[in-house]
Amino acid sequence: MGRGKQTPAPPSLQTTTKSLCGSLRRAAARRGGEAVAVAAVVAAIAATHDVGACATWAAAMAPPAVAAAVAYQYFLRLRVYGAWPSAPFPTTLPLLGNAVVAAPAFMRFLLREAKKRDGLFLFWPGGVRPMCVVANPAAAKAVLGSSRAFPKGEDYRDKFGLVFGDGLVTSMGEKHARARRVLGKYFAKPRLEAHAPSIAAIFDSTADELWDARLADGPCDIDVQEFFHIATLRAFCSAMIGEDILTWKLEGYEARGAVAKYVAKEVSFGSNVVGEHMLYNIPMSKAFPRVRRLAASCAAVRRQVFMPLIERRRAMVRAGAAPDDCLTALVASDGDEAFSDDDLLDQLVTLVGAGHDTSAYFCCYGALMLAKHPDVQARLRAELSEGKSDWPDSLLKRVVMEVLRLYPVIPMVTRQCAKATDLVDDHGAKKRVPQGSRVLVPFFLMNRLPRLWGDDAAAFDPDRWLPHQRAHRSDGAGVSLTVENPKGIKVRFRKRV
Ligand code: HEM
Repeated sequence: MGRGKQTPAPPSLQTTTKSLCGSLRRAAARRGGEAVAVAAVVAAIAATHDVGACATWAAAMAPPAVAAAVAYQYFLRLRVYGAWPSAPFPTTLPLLGNAVVAAPAFMRFLLREAKKRDGLFLFWPGGVRPMCVVANPAAAKAVLGSSRAFPKGEDYRDKFGLVFGDGLVTSMGEKHARARRVLGKYFAKPRLEAHAPSIAAIFDSTADELWDARLADGPCDIDVQEFFHIATLRAFCSAMIGEDILTWKLEGYEARGAVAKYVAKEVSFGSNVVGEHMLYNIPMSKAFPRVRRLAASCAAVRRQVFMPLIERRRAMVRAGAAPDDCLTALVASDGDEAFSDDDLLDQLVTLVGAGHDTSAYFCCYGALMLAKHPDVQARLRAELSEGKSDWPDSLLKRVVMEVLRLYPVIPMVTRQCAKATDLVDDHGAKKRVPQGSRVLVPFFLMNRLPRLWGDDAAAFDPDRWLPHQRAHRSDGAGVSLTVENPKGIKVRFRKRV
């Protein structure tokens, strides 16, 4: 009270140096020795202003600098996290982490470590922050069941967030709860089941549109990936936002179905880029051309495709002629529950992205498995033609579970450990997950562990889901973490395929 306005004094050299050191220290704590190495090069260039000399110097210094950076990372890890039980540090390179390792090698590494370290282990994919891999059903349930101790972390905000903004998949806390309140009822089983006949009709008519002309000249190769992407996008739009996307038109995309192909292509591209960056823990920096292309394509799809859709629906709501679906619920929310234009776009992009790409790839894997296992295909055809697919242990349900087990379309999710928490490994031993760790729950790995599924874990066998088979399995198996709820999705296979 009574204090006049003061002009802040210019920061002294000491203060500036202190704050620079502070930033460097924080950066070093996040990215380990990498920040120190980069800072050394920048300082050298700044001091000498001679880029050529610095390049020669950098080439000579590179090997010892890398060695020093690795040693510094290890020192920080030991200081920050101590020696975690069963965690000698798998080696990583500064800056790149494990990004240099090809995907299959990375998967093999996770599988090997999961077996060796009882389904729960730490490793350092680059930087100081460890990644805790939770390949044990009980521990995975604990992680996914506690959004307080294990909230969605930077992966969701920075990586998914580039595409989904603050939609249902990425948001947290009250924003997430509000979206669930508004949208939850549209995902209830009876509502989804009511859409089954129209979804089956959409699959049939999409096959007719895409294939009939081509099949008229006799057998030919069919791109099932294109088919399932268009069919699931149409099914999603019909069930969730009451629209037939085949009829949408845009400048440059006037032909019937051209907008659907455009949206499906962009969604697939987005999920590939985000998936790669998540798997290898690469920042979604615009320095990467693919990230720049993704950001531009998201902005274009939001502006050209989704904003006009929202405007149309607003007009229908005003005229009292809107259908009862997700889009109307979002647009018509008011008061405390109201959504801004950006919120609406985030939710819409999220629903389309989460809803159709997943289902499309699930169908692709399903088709692949049935093609590879003609005996199962024949039994499934017989069951469908006898109308027995609604039975509790129908072959259709078992095929769905088995496809999702072997090919979980979302192969893993990540969380962040908000406070140090104990989890149990395969033998019930407690291991403490350090605060700040990234936590990886790899469904693809758990779903193929012989400990849980038997020696034939890698085989496609829908009958493993029969009740008497399930009863023989060890603890934890039968806990399906592969899918949130596949029951609402029904696919009718056409006889001629
Ligand atoms: C085979 C098909 C599908 C698979 C494998 C799948 C898988 C998943 C997984 C694993 C999550 C949890 C993500 C996380 O917590 O990090 C999730 C969340 C979500 N999925 Fe799916 N999904 C499928 C189909 C769908 C469909 C058809 C829709 C919409 C029509 C949809 C909408 C959502 C939404 C909105 C969320 C976020 C839920 C929330 O956080 O409250 N998904 N999905």
